[in-house]
Amino acid sequence: MSKQNIALITGITGQDGSYLAELLLEKGYDVHGTIRRSSVDYRERIAHLEGKPHFHLHYADLGDSMSILGVISKVRPTEIYNLAAQSHVQVSFDSPEFTADVDAVGVLRILEAVRQLGLKESCRIYQASTSELYGKVEEVPQNENTPFHPYSPYAVAKQYGYWIVKEYRDAYNMYCCNGILFNHESERRGETFVTRKITLAAARIKQGKQKKLFLGNLGSLRDWGYAKDYVECMWLILQHDKPEDFVIATGVQHSVREFCYHAFKRVGIELEFQGEGISEKGIDKATGNVLIEVSADFYRPTDVVNLWGDPTKAKAKLGWNPNKTTFEDLVNLMVDSDMAKVASEGAAEKVRTNLAEYLEKGIVK
Ligand code: NAP
Ligand code: GDD
Repeated sequence: MSKQNIALITGITGQDGSYLAELLLEKGYDVHGTIRRSSVDYRERIAHLEGKPHFHLHYADLGDSMSILGVISKVRPTEIYNLAAQSHVQVSFDSPEFTADVDAVGVLRILEAVRQLGLKESCRIYQASTSELYGKVEEVPQNENTPFHPYSPYAVAKQYGYWIVKEYRDAYNMYCCNGILFNHESERRGETFVTRKITLAAARIKQGKQKKLFLGNLGSLRDWGYAKDYVECMWLILQHDKPEDFVIATGVQHSVREFCYHAFKRVGIELEFQGEGISEKGIDKATGNVLIEVSADFYRPTDVVNLWGDPTKAKAKLGWNPNKTTFEDLVNLMVDSDMAKVASEGAAEKVRTNLAEYLEKGIVK
């Protein structure tokens, strides 16, 4: 009988963690995830997995070595996917120390726990590295040999994570790898990242629940892929015959402005952009209404504006297809999901309104 694959996913409640858990369960893994205690329910993305026989959750925090050591010692994973992070670049300017502790030292805590527990021969480790490492880019497009120039507290912390993985690979012969992932989005993307903020706003504006969308730098360029395709690549990286680092990207670049154009087009609104910089506006061509404005609140002290990945190595060595989901498909599936979500929020609001009325009239006790 072949040995049971046991995966430990840190950050399982996040966008990528939830998709990766689904993928590994389908592949027959025993899937363990770490969660943090919170005063509100934050397990929306994995609620459908709870109660499944091969799905287990454990409390641990990347800032707490003892909890990391405890969970790895208990689970004895054959693969660890370290996805946990303070992942918002703008927030890293407000919470730089927390970001450094979790995104930099947190990686060390995992590597060192595996080493000290004597699991280095049996456990492979994936580290969620990022295209933000290229930061103030020194070449376009970016590949595994492009020099790094991190340009935010988040990127600086992630750069430590990247190098400590390489160090443990060289110093202790551990199987640990960096996936240098470019931006990847989905219906489950956090609502403050720019793509989701746009698709939600397009849906709300279309349904008359929001008047305007305020954004920062509309000219920023990103290589956006679909998170569901990217978690497949995380798994492929750990199945490779030797530990290596890979750039994961689509090889196609678009601006925030273009993302807005396509998202609003999907809901039947054609946008025209007028003006420049802080004065730029996105106008509904049919009505002349201003739907998008630029606000300095969403500018970053230093912004990364030209990310464009070259996935040649992942295609050649892992057989991964970077273009399974096109940019237009990605925008459309996010918008469609938010249109449904916003419509059902309306229904929920209506139920609440009715409930208030029924309570007042004494119909419901
Ligand atoms: P996400 O949705 O923000 O999820 C982050 C996860 O990390 C959540 O489960 C969060 O838990 C957890 N977490 C945060 N702080 C923690 C701590 N101190 N201890 C334990 N867990 C903690 O991020 P994502 O988009 O899925 O990204 C996954 C990883 O890939 C992150 O490391 C991110 O930096 C990296 N990455 C993402 C992209 C992208 O475009 N999505 C690209 C490159 C790299 P709570 O639910 O409790 O907050
Ligand atoms: N969030 C946000 N909100 N970004 C905006 C806005 C806005 O209102 N307006 C313009 N932008 C610009 C940002 O300045 C940035 O240049 C770009 O849109 C993308 O921002 P985010 O969607 O917040 O993503 P990110 O690229 O900073 O970071 C994401 O991708 C990284 C990989 O490159 C995160 O998922 C990171 O965790 C990940 O490492």
